[in-house]
Amino acid sequence: MLVLFPLVVAAAVAAQSLSPSVLHAKRSAPPAGWSRVRRHAPDAVLPLRFGLTQPNIDMATLETLLNDVSHPDSPNYGKHWSPGRVASHFAPSNEAVHTVVSWIADSGIARDRVRVSSTKGWVLLNATVAEAEDLLKTEYHVYEHDSGTAHVACNEYHLPEHVVPHVELVTPTIDFNAVVRRSGSTSTSTHITVGQPGAGTVNPVFKSTISNIFSELEHCDTQTTPDCLRALYDFYYLGPFAASKNSYAIVEYTPQAYRGADLDMFFKNFSSGLVGSRPVLESIDGGVVQDVAESFSFNGESNLDLEYGMTLVTERQPVTLYQVGDLEEGASFNNLLDALDGAYCTYEGGDDPTQDGIYPDSDPSGYQGCVVFFLAFFPCSNEFAAAGNDCGTITPAHVISTSYGYNEADLSPFYTARQCAEYAKLGMQGVTVLYSSGDNGVAGNNGLCLTAPNDPATYNTSSPPVQSGSGQTFNPSFPSTCPFVTAVGATQVIPGKSVLNTTHGEEVEQACAQVIFSGGGFSNYFGVPDYQKGVVEDYIKNNLTPSPYPAGTYNTTGTSRVYPDISANGANYVIAVDGQFGLVYGTSASTPVVGAMLTMINDARLFVGKSPIGFINPMIYSPGFQGAFNDITKGTNPGCGTDGFSAVKGFDPVTGLGTPNFLELLKLWSLAP
Ligand SMILES: *[C@@H]1O[C@H](CO)[C@@H](O)[C@H](O)[C@H]1NC(C)=O
Ligand SMILES: *[C@@H]1O[C@H](CO)[C@@H](O)[C@H](O)[C@H]1NC(C)=O
Ligand SMILES: *[C@@H]1O[C@H](CO)[C@@H](O)[C@H](O)[C@H]1NC(C)=O
Ligand SMILES: *[C@@H]1O[C@H](CO)[C@@H](O)[C@H](O)[C@H]1NC(C)=O
Ligand SMILES: *[C@@H]1O[C@H](CO)[C@@H](O)[C@H](O)[C@H]1NC(C)=O
Repeated sequence: MLVLFPLVVAAAVAAQSLSPSVLHAKRSAPPAGWSRVRRHAPDAVLPLRFGLTQPNIDMATLETLLNDVSHPDSPNYGKHWSPGRVASHFAPSNEAVHTVVSWIADSGIARDRVRVSSTKGWVLLNATVAEAEDLLKTEYHVYEHDSGTAHVACNEYHLPEHVVPHVELVTPTIDFNAVVRRSGSTSTSTHITVGQPGAGTVNPVFKSTISNIFSELEHCDTQTTPDCLRALYDFYYLGPFAASKNSYAIVEYTPQAYRGADLDMFFKNFSSGLVGSRPVLESIDGGVVQDVAESFSFNGESNLDLEYGMTLVTERQPVTLYQVGDLEEGASFNNLLDALDGAYCTYEGGDDPTQDGIYPDSDPSGYQGCVVFFLAFFPCSNEFAAAGNDCGTITPAHVISTSYGYNEADLSPFYTARQCAEYAKLGMQGVTVLYSSGDNGVAGNNGLCLTAPNDPATYNTSSPPVQSGSGQTFNPSFPSTCPFVTAVGATQVIPGKSVLNTTHGEEVEQACAQVIFSGGGFSNYFGVPDYQKGVVEDYIKNNLTPSPYPAGTYNTTGTSRVYPDISANGANYVIAVDGQFGLVYGTSASTPVVGAMLTMINDARLFVGKSPIGFINPMIYSPGFQGAFNDITKGTNPGCGTDGFSAVKGFDPVTGLGTPNFLELLKLWSLAP
């Protein structure tokens, strides 16, 4: 038997290398503007990369892994994983590596020409076009763009049946990851630059400049100041006591930038100890705090986030600014995630040129990575940074607050699932990820609605769902619909109410209906997570049975993720911007405020040697936490020609569980292990 064993293996391998080829990926036509000009030269060399499939990356497994460290009933609550443990848990198996390498070698290519990346995520081979065509049963063509840019690609490719389960994708194949310069502009890409004014991904709305700031708490229904927020949410804390162990990061996408003079103007009135202080800049992919363009559209978001974020954690807790993307190209959430997790940008499909910044920037004045500048400006901290794309260069902060978002329908189900899995991995490491839920109620950014249900099963990348101002189908927001982030909606003080009334147990807040409406609703892409099942069932049973809207208005299956999870005041914020005080509105405001509260709760836990709170959703939805939120029962989140959903007693898709009561949350999380 022992003697026979190698022969059996050899026979199995021989049989496998004869396994039939199956189609792995196909594109029906090249993207607009590209045309096929000729077959590629057979002796040209292609840097083939086989991206291997990660184990454990399905939603159900991720939820189980995340619950294990975040659910109050789990014996492992708070026992977060190290980045290395996360990376190896999701690393492709030795079997995957072996299968792919053996198949290539059996096809007649010398084994020593095949390399495996140090992360085990990729199998690499410099193949001639003739070899690649033979391996992948395809034809490579040269394509040309109207602008003159050339690109090599194929229409479709095949893999042997036994290799398919181990390979997520092969590059270069059907993707047009060529960066095309927009004519007449120095900008080099076609993706949505998240931070670009007008891109529809930046939230806050400016209403008016003000000449007089009220200081009495009676006026919090017309002007929100840090004191109003402290009073509303019992946000009274003597600390911080553990600032050196703690961290709070606020994310901004270039060209959004704060103005130092504005921060000081705000600090002078509201937090004198911070005058002259700036956030700690972590530049990602060439991120700069630009001062070339200055107006509310460029400074409003960053100023708002930092003025409130920094003030509420006080001058004793430094705040980190993740400034993402260079001035030429900009960036998106995947570029940030690449920097937070080297495994993310190296294991998987890489960045999508239709959505993400592709670095190094093909514009020579854009970010080229650390190599070009030697160690002077962008120190190379690892092997991937040297590729001109910041991978794994940043240790994630305990709390990360982002006030930008897409419409789910802007993105494919594949793209969102891959990114959502990454948020789960951050949660496993004890990171709290907050996203604003949007400012257009049940409509998407820019008030756009879908014209037909966005069914993931029939999603077509080359003709994505139509979004229009006259659509009547609700348009949910991503990443808020990812069940592994905490989505933050917006409330306001009810006109005429004083925040002093909170102490009398009277409801002083309602869903925001001034200038903006709290983003909320039912995902079309993501299933309902366990932590939310009960409250979602109750909401549907009590408020949507029968549904008040025609079939197809929103995902009525009752099996999809509902957002937001929680909310906070998002109206009438006094901020300093471009040398003036003014009022702004948005879930952009509520999100960094919640981030500041959670950061101070982490402070209390870190001070006594406990872990940070990490992914909070399984905890905050648990029965023990019910009393720790001010239930919001008034207001709606209109959009798409409807009143949207209603805030009711208990959870709702307008304000989630309600607004935080800091002292209650502090008590509960201090008692948790
Ligand atoms: C492919 O060729 C490039 C350029 O010569 C080289 O840097 C790289 O290491 C090669 N990769 C493999 C897998 O041999
Ligand atoms: C800001 O504070 C200064 C000093 O207390 C005060 O004079 C000024 O009026 C305040 N600004 C506004 C707009 O109220
Ligand atoms: C996707 O849309 C394109 C453009 O409308 C169409 O040609 C193609 O057939 C569609 N593909 C599928 C699978 O429906
Ligand atoms: C609410 O607060 C105001 C101002 O402090 C006070 O006049 C009023 O009586 C309070 N209302 C209730 C119901 O407590
Ligand atoms: C509704 O959401 C679920 C996720 O639970 C998804 O499977 C289903 O396809 C969605 N339906 C539509 C029409 O989008």
